[in-house]
Amino acid sequence: MDSFLIEGGLPLNGEVTISGSKNAVLPILAATLLTSETCIIRRVPDLSDVGFMLKILQSLGAEVTQDGSTLTIRAANISGRGDYELIRKMRGSICILGPLLARLKEAVVSLPGGCVIGTRPIDLHLKGLRGLGAQVEVEAGYVRVHASRLEGQMIFLGGRVGPTVLGTANLMMAATLASGITVIESAACEPEVVDLAGLLIAMGAKVRGAGTPTITIVGVDRLHGADYAVIPDRIEAGTFLLAAAITRSHLRISPVIPEHLGAVITKLEEAGCTIQHDGIGLTVKADRITAVDLRTQPFPGFPTDLQAPFMSLLATAQGTSVITENIFENRLQHVAELQRMGAAIRMQGNTAFVEGVSRLSGAPVQGSDLRASAAMVLAGLAADGITTVQGLEFLDRGYADFEGKLNAVGASIRR
Ligand code: UD1
Repeated sequence: MDSFLIEGGLPLNGEVTISGSKNAVLPILAATLLTSETCIIRRVPDLSDVGFMLKILQSLGAEVTQDGSTLTIRAANISGRGDYELIRKMRGSICILGPLLARLKEAVVSLPGGCVIGTRPIDLHLKGLRGLGAQVEVEAGYVRVHASRLEGQMIFLGGRVGPTVLGTANLMMAATLASGITVIESAACEPEVVDLAGLLIAMGAKVRGAGTPTITIVGVDRLHGADYAVIPDRIEAGTFLLAAAITRSHLRISPVIPEHLGAVITKLEEAGCTIQHDGIGLTVKADRITAVDLRTQPFPGFPTDLQAPFMSLLATAQGTSVITENIFENRLQHVAELQRMGAAIRMQGNTAFVEGVSRLSGAPVQGSDLRASAAMVLAGLAADGITTVQGLEFLDRGYADFEGKLNAVGASIRR
C-alpha cells in the first residue's frame, strides 16, 4: 500500500489549478446512459473513482474514449445489469440506478460501498424510484428495480438528517424520461445537483428549480447527446485554501466558483485569513489563525467533506474551536490520528472540542476515508518533522495529483 512521507513546516507559495468536481462528474457520467447518442464531457478529473465509473459504464456496454480531461461516451446498446464487484467498490455508482431504470425500465445493481463514514443507506433513493411507480427488490446484495412505465409524481425526499445529494440526482435522472410531471420536494441544493441539471437540460430534459428544495421535471420521450463541462471541485478548492491557512502561507487557486464556497470562505475569514476573488480565482493569505466554531450542514451550510481538513487547521489555531458533525455519524475518526500528532481534542458525541496547540509534531498516521486522508496531509504540512500518511487509496479516489499540486507550490511530499 502506498503512503506519503511529508516533511513539515515548509511555507507554500504560488498557484494551484483546481480540477473538475468529483461529486458532480460521477452522476454526470451516469446520466450519459440516458441517451443512445454521443455525449462529450469536459474537465473530467483524473481520479480512481472516475476510472471505476468508466469501467462500470463500459461493463454496461457504453463506448468510452478519452482525450486528456475530455471524455466521449456513447451508450448506444446497453444492458441493465452492472458488474457486482465494480459497483460495490464505490458509493457514487448507485447513481446508475435512475438512468438505467429510465432508459431500459429495468436495472440490477449491487449495493454500493464507498468510504466508511457511517451506514450510508439508500432507502431514500429507492423511495424516490418507487414514487415514480418502480418495483424495488433488495436481495442477496443486489437491488433490482423495474417498471412497465414511470409516471411523474410529487415526491418528498427529505430524510433523517435532511436531503440526499445522490438520491436527488437519481430521482431527477429517472424522472427525465417518465411521463408527466415530477416534483421533488426537499431536494438537495448542492452545486453538484445544479451541474447535473445543467447537463440534463443540455440533453433536452425539462428541469426547473435545481439548486432550490423544489425541483420540477417535465418528462420527455427521449434525450439527445450533449457537450458539457463539469464545474470546478469546491471541496478540492477548499482543501487548498486550508493548505495555505495551515502553513500560514499565500496561495492563488483557480478556477473556482466563489458562491460554491460561501460558508468555507466565511469561516476562513472568521479564523483570520484574508481571501480575495479576482473573477476566476481566489487568493488566500494566512498569518495568525484563531479558533472558530462550525457545524456541518447541507448546502449552503458548511460541507461535511471539509470538516476533517478544517479540523486540522483549527488544531493549530489560538483558542478552542467547537466542531459538530451533523451529516454522517461516523465521520470523526481523524480525531484519534490528529491526537497522535499532538492535537488537543476532546470528543463528546458528534462534537469535537479542539484546543489549538502552537505546534503539531510529525507522526505515522492513517487516513480512514477520503477527506480524513486529506486532513492528515494538511496536518503533516504544518507539523514539525516527518509525517507518514497511510490511506492513499482513499485520497486517490477524490484528489487529482494531490502531492504533485502541493509540491509545485513548495511542499515536500514523497509517495
Ligand atoms: C454525497 C457526496 C459526499 C458528501 C455527501 C453529503 C458524492 C459521490 N458524494 O454523498 O461526498 O459527503 O453527499 O454532502 O456525491 N441518507 C439516508 N438515506 C439515503 C441516502 C442518504 O438516510 O437513501 C443519509 C446519509 O446516511 C447521510 C445523509 O442522508 O446521513 C446525507 O447523505 P447523502 O446526501 O445521500 O450523501 P451522498 O449523496 O451519498
